[in-house]
Amino acid sequence: MEGRHRRQGRQLILGIETSCDETAAAVVTADGRILSNIVSSQADLHARFGGVVPEVASRRHLELVVPVVRQALGDAGATLEDVEQIAVTRGPGLMGALLVGLSAAKALAWARRLPLVPVDHLLGHVASLYLAPDPLEPPFLCLLASGGHTMLLDVRDHGRFEVLGQTIDDAAGEAFDKGARLLGLGYPGGAALDRLAGSGDPHAFSFPVARVPGLDFSFSGVKTSLLYTVRDLDGELDARKADLAASYQRSLVRALVERTRDAAERARAERVAVVGGVAANSELRASLGDAAFAPLELCTDNAAMIASAGRFTSAVPYPGYLALDAYASREAA
Ligand code: KG4
Ligand code: ZN
Repeated sequence: MEGRHRRQGRQLILGIETSCDETAAAVVTADGRILSNIVSSQADLHARFGGVVPEVASRRHLELVVPVVRQALGDAGATLEDVEQIAVTRGPGLMGALLVGLSAAKALAWARRLPLVPVDHLLGHVASLYLAPDPLEPPFLCLLASGGHTMLLDVRDHGRFEVLGQTIDDAAGEAFDKGARLLGLGYPGGAALDRLAGSGDPHAFSFPVARVPGLDFSFSGVKTSLLYTVRDLDGELDARKADLAASYQRSLVRALVERTRDAAERARAERVAVVGGVAANSELRASLGDAAFAPLELCTDNAAMIASAGRFTSAVPYPGYLALDAYASREAA
């Protein structure tokens, strides 16, 4: 009994994330400590298609969401009775995938009459910076670079941000993945390209860094340039792969770093932070040495960041959330 009361006093938040190809659940305390963080990646399932197949992702989420939630609660030493509210990604992402997580969250919340917090996935990435033991306090300028988004955000307080610039074509993570694919590194290849680049010469090839007006990004040109270079190398490709990876990565990282510095100057930001899957990139981490980076395990999609964002987003009381829908893009939110 004692223990139960103590646990209830912890006011736990259960986070659920299924926007793309990671089925994730986490338990976080109201003051931002992670008690468990389970991520079940479907990457292997999608690898042979060279990208995420939405319908396959939805079905896999459906199989995994309950066991993943159960494991998150178990690892935290908690039951649903210890949970105060459930935070779930509502968008943006793949519609079918989002609906699996949202429906699971609704059902769990409904069963216990708990409030539900619908979380924006991008705010979730930013909220990866608000967790213990070293939470970052707004205001700061944030580069969000993932497989689906590349944005510069002016973060004034925990619950919202203003978009200062974004990619006009591919996301940075997508550029890493497409480059990795051209080099035969599998899917998603950002991390593999990062590793291979470590043994290559970043000055061996010269790839363009697109400069579009304002604070926006463009990555489609550099990808096409890599495609032509790979084609021209023909039989020599294997011998030059590491150099290609290093040169290509250098170009992507330079684009990210230059625009982030421009934005920091314009917004007169004293602090810069980087979040999203690409924030795991070793060259980016080294090039923006004075910036705050999300911890490695919180860069790629996870539910701890969603629970974290849930701490700063209004909860919808029972039963109003049963009518909530997911949204595929921010414009549709
Ligand atoms: O944030 P995330 O898990 O998913 C989205 O919300 O999109 O980001 C995944 C992206 C993928 O494109 C992956 O290749 C990239 O992050 N990524 C990396 C590295 N680790 C993951 N890109 C470059 N270097 C890395 N070390
Ligand atoms: Zn993400």
